[in-house]
Amino acid sequence: MIEAGQLVLLISNKGKRYLRKFEPGAEVHTHDGKLLMDEVAEAGFGQYVRTHLGRSYLVLKPTLHDLIKGVKRQTQIMYPKEIGYLMMKLGIGPGSTVIESGTGSGGLTTALAWFVGDTGKVITYERRADFYKLAGKNLERVGLADRVEQVNRNIEDGFLHSGADALFLDVRTPWEYLGAIPAAVIPGAMCGFLLPTVNQVSDLLRGLEAGPFAEVEVLEILVRRWKPVADRLRPDDRMVAHTGFLVFARYMEPPAELEPEAAPLPADDDADLPDADEFGDSTDGDGDE
Ligand SMILES: C[S@@+](CC[C@H](N)C(=O)[O-])C[C@H]1O[C@@H](n2cnc3c(N)ncnc32)[C@H](O)[C@@H]1O
Repeated sequence: MIEAGQLVLLISNKGKRYLRKFEPGAEVHTHDGKLLMDEVAEAGFGQYVRTHLGRSYLVLKPTLHDLIKGVKRQTQIMYPKEIGYLMMKLGIGPGSTVIESGTGSGGLTTALAWFVGDTGKVITYERRADFYKLAGKNLERVGLADRVEQVNRNIEDGFLHSGADALFLDVRTPWEYLGAIPAAVIPGAMCGFLLPTVNQVSDLLRGLEAGPFAEVEVLEILVRRWKPVADRLRPDDRMVAHTGFLVFARYMEPPAELEPEAAPLPADDDADLPDADEFGDSTDGDGDE
């Protein structure tokens, strides 16, 4: 049984999707006729229901991927392929506090709010009032607004918050705001950036090199889908070839004064650690750090 307030994804046999919160007594007016939400709730997830015209709809519990797909957008939103990796790199999980800008349509904000759970917080800055409002509606629609603090402000004027565990910028000129990061995050916090062109990545790298940042990583993520046909298995004809470059760096406070160098560990002490290569990390161990 589906409970009041729970999100429900309804999919027609032609693939038309409706994302709704279950409210007792409510109706959904689809292209195939009317669906009674009480009947949907009674049927439960994974079951089929019929409209008053007899057309069947599948009732599903939406995944985060479904929620992102359903974001009403007036800006480019981030793709799931980048979102998945950045959550790991930024260490986002239940209880995390993360600062983000710009909010845009709230695609990434939705994902961050999902991962920080009930005990975490997403603080998102957007300079445009129209996008600020749109993202608010998108978050409300999927029931995640209470995990998000929206700020309608240009980050040119700095962040109003401090002590965040992580920070992510999806803005055109992030290098202009690097100076505001130290006051906003804890020392050692992971920071991430999404940029569509290599020129922007170079400008950002110059800014990061000037410090105080370490462990800089630049990458792009390519996903090649395959036609899932067992007897004629092969890649799809088309793919999304470019979305953006991801850049990560850790904010490191400069040391107050240099400590004398610690004695090296005995050779055995790190014998159980996996090789950096196991993680595909080509910047480790090549002697140029
Ligand atoms: C590409 S959109 C972000 C999309 C978002 N990551 C998503 O997944 O939906 C970029 C947003 O950054 C906002 N923005 C750009 N510069 C900004 C600044 N200096 N301060 C605040 N917001 C800014 C823009 O108005 C725009 O809405």
